[in-house]
Amino acid sequence: MMDQPDQATTQRDPEEEVVHRALEAYYRTGKPPWDTGVTPPELVDLVEGHGALPPGRALELGCGTGTNATYLARHGWEVAAVDLIDRAADQAREKAAAAGVAVRGLHGDATRLDELDVPGPFDLFFDLSCYCGVPLHRRDAYAAGLTHRAAPGARLLMFGYGPEPLGNPTTEITSWAAGVTADELRDRFRGWELIDVTPGTNSVPTFWFTLRRDA
Ligand SMILES: C[S@@+](CC[C@H](N)C(=O)[O-])C[C@H]1O[C@@H](n2cnc3c(N)ncnc32)[C@H](O)[C@@H]1O
Repeated sequence: MMDQPDQATTQRDPEEEVVHRALEAYYRTGKPPWDTGVTPPELVDLVEGHGALPPGRALELGCGTGTNATYLARHGWEVAAVDLIDRAADQAREKAAAAGVAVRGLHGDATRLDELDVPGPFDLFFDLSCYCGVPLHRRDAYAAGLTHRAAPGARLLMFGYGPEPLGNPTTEITSWAAGVTADELRDRFRGWELIDVTPGTNSVPTFWFTLRRDA
């Protein structure tokens, strides 16, 4: 059973508009380069590995076409998945439906969760390369939205590019060159502990960050 998308009515500033247009273009041209259809081992480990989290409520930020939201739902999680681009959110719902699992695929902004029907509390937040592309001035709102919706002890598993890995292909989008660092997450996510930072295996600096909300 799929939910209909919740349409957020949002006032975006000029930098956000540029980001939105760039992302929309990726989805319009077909399959975006990041859409591998493969769930990363770091998420598999958290869900199925030694000391796996018990299934609960999960919120995915920047879910793309829904590979990982579907994976979580298949493993017993109650999943809501948000993407800024309506075409992506549509595909996430379709992918879950084809797999016969329930995912609430929502079109909306991870920095404006109050506009969506995602009250939580959530036990797990998953972000595969969304936050690192969020404009710097919207990142406090992202952190506040998750903090407000986190169950005590909730985890945030985040993959992000480090600073300037992409050589800033779009000069108007400063965040795409800024990437994300451990220090930034420690500063921004008050009431959370950064419990793990593991470098990714990409040819440019990438990291897997795990944060835990205070109990
Ligand atoms: C690099 S893609 C990764 C997509 C997906 N996580 C995956 O790995 O296939 C980043 C995704 O985040 C979405 N995104 C970017 N900014 C967002 C925001 N503020 N709110 C929600 N989604 C956002 C983009 O539309 C895109 O689908």
